Amino acid sequence: MTLSIDDTTACLDGLLRSRGSVRAFRDEAVSRETVLEILRVASRAPSNSNTQPWQVYALAGKAIREVEGAITAVFDSGELPPPHHFPTPLPEAYGARQADFAARYYQALGIDRMDAAARARQTRRNFGFFGAPVGLIFSIDACLKPHSWLDLGLYLQSVMLAARSRGLDTCPQVSFAPYHAVIAPVLGLPEGQVTVCGMSLGYRDERAAVNGFETPRREVGEFVRMMGF
Ligand SMILES: Cc1cc2nc3c(=O)[nH]c(=O)nc-3n(C[C@H](O)[C@H](O)[C@H](O)COP(=O)(O)O)c2cc1C
Repeated sequence: MTLSIDDTTACLDGLLRSRGSVRAFRDEAVSRETVLEILRVASRAPSNSNTQPWQVYALAGKAIREVEGAITAVFDSGELPPPHHFPTPLPEAYGARQADFAARYYQALGIDRMDAAARARQTRRNFGFFGAPVGLIFSIDACLKPHSWLDLGLYLQSVMLAARSRGLDTCPQVSFAPYHAVIAPVLGLPEGQVTVCGMSLGYRDERAAVNGFETPRREVGEFVRMMGF
């Protein structure tokens, strides 16, 4: 079947708009074949000189529990990994958006932002992939430079859209990255690989309030300068 340009546009725009981070999943398995199909079609993502720098560890069942157990043991010991995701200080514009996200997130969960213990319990849910039936861990060769991480980012978005087109949802998760030293021996990551992020994959729990909040975007005029049109 060949789709018209209009159908293709509607289809892809619909996928882009319907993707959102999902943090509560139905108790419904995703088959090994479906996971492989998603990871395979997503590998049509472009990469610099077709280097394809992504590595993926696809986990289910016991494999998820093993990663979760190893990370939460460290997390619960109070041994916090060094701040990892953002520079300190975070430039004001990003800080404001981060704060806006946190306000929406914790409000949806009914968590008071001053309640550090409740926030920590929610952070901890990252490590069990928010109860998703499938967890993905993405790694890359540590010697590669930022542009190869960009390639991996393109792969990640492709995975999320391929999941969406099959009625599945995802949550990309940088929370795994600071725990590379814990994850590497559990999954057998080769020397020289570094954990970039994780991703939850499964069927969205429609009833969960945490899946219902909005994340706004900047107006296009704020980040685009049109020239020569
Ligand atoms: C690289 C990356 C890492 C992220 N890490 C986490 C994470 O560790 N935990 C989490 O709950 N959400 C995480 N998110 C989800 C973001 O909070 C989310 O994408 C953002 O707020 C926009 O919302 P949306 O994905 O629903 O459109 C991450 C997203 C990206 C792209």
